[in-house]
Amino acid sequence: MTHLFNTYAQFPMEIVDGHDYHLVDSIGTEYLDFTSGIGVCSFGYSNELITKSVTEQIGKVWHTSNLYPSQIQEDVASLLCPVGMVAFFCNSGTEANEAAFKLARKATGKTKVLAFKNGFHGRSYGSMSLTGNPHISEGFAPLVPGVSFATYNDPESVEAVTNDLAAVILEVVQGEGGVVPANADWIKAVELACHQHGVLLIVDEVQTGIGRTGTKFAYEQYGLDPDIITSAKALGNGLPVGAMIGKEKLVGAFGPGTHGTTFGGNKVAMASAKAVLTQLTPEFLKVVQEKAETLWTKLKNEVCSLPAVIEVTGQGLMIGIHLSDEVPVIDVIKELHKVGMLTLSAEHNTLRLLPPLIMPEAKLLAGVDIIKQVIEKTSVGTM
Ligand SMILES: Cc1ncc(COP(=O)(O)O)c(C=O)c1O
Repeated sequence: MTHLFNTYAQFPMEIVDGHDYHLVDSIGTEYLDFTSGIGVCSFGYSNELITKSVTEQIGKVWHTSNLYPSQIQEDVASLLCPVGMVAFFCNSGTEANEAAFKLARKATGKTKVLAFKNGFHGRSYGSMSLTGNPHISEGFAPLVPGVSFATYNDPESVEAVTNDLAAVILEVVQGEGGVVPANADWIKAVELACHQHGVLLIVDEVQTGIGRTGTKFAYEQYGLDPDIITSAKALGNGLPVGAMIGKEKLVGAFGPGTHGTTFGGNKVAMASAKAVLTQLTPEFLKVVQEKAETLWTKLKNEVCSLPAVIEVTGQGLMIGIHLSDEVPVIDVIKELHKVGMLTLSAEHNTLRLLPPLIMPEAKLLAGVDIIKQVIEKTSVGTM
């Protein structure tokens, strides 16, 4: 009998150990990891600098509350924030989006927010209300009022950006929604409409940020200038850290007592984030870009052409292999377990790959070979 709520559809193996980009289960099976704990452990499972930084902090004080200033929060914020922006630390992507939603309302005095169908922003009432997937909010109504949804990448959706909105929130690559990148012209048009109508642009970089797509934040590749950025997942490489990053002009709306959280900016979590961001150098990102380029060439040449594959989408090391309905993604994931590989799914029967950014190119390519074989094997007799 379990003492846990049954909220997760779990696979049977328990992961008990890990090193570099491998995970090991309780019976000693080693897996090549293409999940990073759902986009979290980008520096893998035995990064020396992160371990050292966290261990040193554990030897000092773990937690002091936010009643006192914290140099390590300042250090992380200075590494994390684009010029002219400041951070509020919290513990998850959900909380970062919750903070963004609250800040947008308070700063503008307006209540409405435009979000996008198939977007995912979390599961608290605020962030769930911004999430454009009816399955996720089923049974939880009434949701937070004032949120409307437009179609992602649809030029007509730009007309939904009107001056009664406090904010528009979007992902640059919809992750849970099927690894769908934004169309460059469309997202720039959305940004322009935000500027024209006095609407804040919130870019949710929870999954796409911290190097996942080859730049620190994915929006950089689209030349955007968001008012608010949300980050989490890979920011702590496995320790819970979230951040809501906002332009300095918004600081006045979030004064003492307006928002807060006990654990936000916790020193041990910050020690991890500091070591992550210290290693997220332009040189490191260049290597990620180069590896991604080679990987995408292989995906385009060898995976796109498989009969069971509709298309391969994504950016950098965030990849979605869209499978035809005859080949359920869950079957592919289970077959991959049998050959020692961990992968993820996303909406619309998509096999989602989020390998640790530190995975060497040869292993990334070897992983694609295994995936190819397994998709071919799983689709035998179905198509
Ligand atoms: C884009 C995006 N935003 C927000 C969240 C929620 O983050 P968390 O699970 O840390 O609350 C996720 C989680 O998958 C996400 O992918």
